[in-house]
Amino acid sequence: MKIIAANWKLQKNPLEARLFFTSLKEKLSATGAGHSTNEKNSGKNNSQQKKLVIFPSSTCFESVAQAVAGTDWEWGSQNCYSEGKGAFTGEISAQVVKDMGGAWVLLGHSERRTLFHESNEFIAQKLALVQSLGLQALLCIGETLSERESGKTNLVLKEQLQKSLSQADQQKALVIAYEPVWAIGTGKVASVDQVKETHQFVHATLLELGFSDRLPILYGGSVKPENTQELTKIPHVDGFLIGGASLDPESYSQIYLRS
Ligand code: PGA
Repeated sequence: MKIIAANWKLQKNPLEARLFFTSLKEKLSATGAGHSTNEKNSGKNNSQQKKLVIFPSSTCFESVAQAVAGTDWEWGSQNCYSEGKGAFTGEISAQVVKDMGGAWVLLGHSERRTLFHESNEFIAQKLALVQSLGLQALLCIGETLSERESGKTNLVLKEQLQKSLSQADQQKALVIAYEPVWAIGTGKVASVDQVKETHQFVHATLLELGFSDRLPILYGGSVKPENTQELTKIPHVDGFLIGGASLDPESYSQIYLRS
């Protein structure tokens, strides 16, 4: 199973979101990939299945929920607060995401960590809430360029995993996205060797921490149609988290088809 996740960040209004799905459905139907569980996956074994997940900004939840109704596509929030409701002005409720039909919450994206100063401890609290609601948590981890250049990549990733997952339920749904910070939105994709080594390390660390051998690990950071094929073949790359290239139905559908 490959997970092809789109992180729209603070892009698109509800109308643009609807138009995106109209176009995406046309493109995928034209290739025969379809968008219903039964059509798409019939006759294929588990390793060939693909799951498409969209993370729109919160003002587009409603239009995305309507657009994916009747398909096997899923959607989620790019963030949430650590409480489901209360006096927390401006925050996003994971409970409401669930009520609206969302199935996922993205947590710990590097933009949240850097621009909004989110700590591993805060992320751990959110993750516990997301899991307790029965939603899928997609936890992002990744090192900065200076951390990589000073040989601290593994140390940083291990700490992010240990602390962000300190309250995680090992029996519940969880997906990890490894996104080197220096590759996000820069056009600079990690090399095949770097992705291979790092995904192997993340996989081994998750096992050490007691998580399932089958926990999916996505790669993110300047994924494009042109680099999808080489990245998708790497062991322990179970899909992608795509920013810029997910905004255009043409490039997103190409990544989906080539994964
Ligand atoms: P990018 O973003 O694909 O534009 O590099 C990835 C992300 O931020 O998740």
